[in-house]
Amino acid sequence: MDRYAVIGNPIAHSKSPRIHTLFARQTGQALSYEALLAPLDGFIQTVTAFQAAGGCGLNVTVPFKLEAFDYADHHTARARAAGAVNTLAFRPDGVLGDNTDGAGILRDITVNLGCPVAGRRVLLLGAGGAARGSVLPLLDASPATLTIANRTPGKAAELADEFARGGQPGPNGCGFAELAGQEFDVVINATSASLSDAAPDLPPGLYAPGSLAYDMMYGKGDTPFLAAARSQGAAHLSDGLGMLVEQAAESFLLWRHIRPDTASVLAELRAGL
Ligand code: ATR
Repeated sequence: MDRYAVIGNPIAHSKSPRIHTLFARQTGQALSYEALLAPLDGFIQTVTAFQAAGGCGLNVTVPFKLEAFDYADHHTARARAAGAVNTLAFRPDGVLGDNTDGAGILRDITVNLGCPVAGRRVLLLGAGGAARGSVLPLLDASPATLTIANRTPGKAAELADEFARGGQPGPNGCGFAELAGQEFDVVINATSASLSDAAPDLPPGLYAPGSLAYDMMYGKGDTPFLAAARSQGAAHLSDGLGMLVEQAAESFLLWRHIRPDTASVLAELRAGL
C-alpha cells in the first residue's frame, strides 16, 4: 500500500489522517496515512527515514514548513510565493515541494461558501506565514483591491511589496489604524490572535453590506475574530475548517491525480468538533 503521513510537532491532534482516510475510501485509492511526530531537531532524519521506508508523500505542519521548503528539490510557483511547503511528493526525479494552503482557502471561499473574490475588495489580516501563503492565490483570483494589514505595520508593507509584479504596484500594506473609513467585501483573519483568545484590534465599520468574515482558525462556535465581525455587521461568517479540508484535497490531488469530494468530509468533521 502507498504510504503517506502528516509530520509535525505536536501532531497527536491532527485531523489530516482522518481526512485523507476518508478521501481514500471515497475515491477507492489503496493508501495508508499516518501521523508522524518528528523531534524538533529531527525533521530531516524523520523525513529521510519515511522516504527510505517507501513513503510516497508527506503533509507538513507546524513548525516544519520552512525546513520542508529547504528539503524539496523542486518547488511549485505557489510554494515559492509562500516561501513554505506543506506538501512533499517523493518522485523519481526528486522531491517536489508544494503549498496547498492558499488554494485551500480560495476554494473554500469561492466554491464552498459561494463568495466571489474577483472584482471585490479583500482585506487580509496578518503578515506571518499563514498570510503570506494566501497572497498569490488571492491575487490570482483578481480582486478589485487587496489590502494586507498587520499589527506591526512595517511587516505588512514588506509583504505587500514582495508581490508587486510586472511594474504594477502590489497589494496595499498598512497597520490596523489606517483601515479606518474603508470598507471591504471579504475580510480574512490570518493572524494568530485567536490562539491567545483575542481578536485583532480593528477600527469599526470595515464590513461592507453582504461581506464575508473568514477566520483561518476553527473551533466549536465563533472564534474571537468571528464574534467581533458578527457584532460589526458582517453578513456571512466562516471559520477555517473548510480550508483545512480543501488544502488536504489539493494535496491528495497532487499525489493521486484525483480530486476527492470535500462536502461530506467537511460535514463529518464539523459534526465531530
Ligand atoms: P503564522 O505562521 O500563524 O502566520 P506568525 O508567522 O508567528 O504565525 O505570525 C503571526 C501573525 O499574527 C503576525 O501577523 C502577528 O502580528 P505581528 O506581526 O504584529 O506580531 C499576528 N498576531 C498575533 N497575535 C495578534 C494579536 N493579538 N492581534 C493582532 N495580530 C496578532
